[in-house]
Amino acid sequence: MQNDIQEVLISEEQIQEMVKELGEKLSVEYEGRNPLVICVLKGAFVFMADLIKRITVPIEIDFMAVSSYGASTKSSGVVKIIKDLDVSVEGRDVLIVEDIIDSGLTLSYLINDVLKRRNAKSIRVVTLFDKPARRTVDLQADFTGFVLPDAFVVGYGLDYAEKYRNLPYIGILKPEVYSS
Ligand code: XMP
Ligand code: MG
Repeated sequence: MQNDIQEVLISEEQIQEMVKELGEKLSVEYEGRNPLVICVLKGAFVFMADLIKRITVPIEIDFMAVSSYGASTKSSGVVKIIKDLDVSVEGRDVLIVEDIIDSGLTLSYLINDVLKRRNAKSIRVVTLFDKPARRTVDLQADFTGFVLPDAFVVGYGLDYAEKYRNLPYIGILKPEVYSS
């Protein structure tokens, strides 16, 4: 698996340091509150697990899985809910945990078409990675870890064809991996 990686972009140590920093910021942000922390599956589950251990206020967690609707829908922003939340967000301070924001369409749908309509009290977004160059909707996370160049990355929850999620760092795949 490691042999398929051309370059390590962000090391395990760098990621862990950033996760700690984000956890500290979120602990200050949510002081005296009890946020509902929502993990957007699958990619964000590794970040979610590390992040919540760095948050010092009481939290509840839930999971949601979404996917683009069909092949041509990346640009239309239509997103399908594969797994919905178990709990109600009504009146809750909601923190969405994302692995990476690319076009921004997934998150835009989650915020505007799902969580706002369900009357969340507040909605904040924390993402570990951001590719602002690829944005097609006007959307910014409230807390961002690393800004990445416009390259496809794997590891730390992120996959290529469902593989590489278990790498502890973020890397770029060798071109021959895509073509084989
Ligand atoms: P949008 O475009 O809606 O998409 O912001 C965000 C989702 O796209 C996936 N994504 C990636 N997955 N390596 C990955 O493994 C990448 O470089 C990458 N860029 C985007 C990811 O699932 C994210 O939640
Ligand atoms: Mg993915």
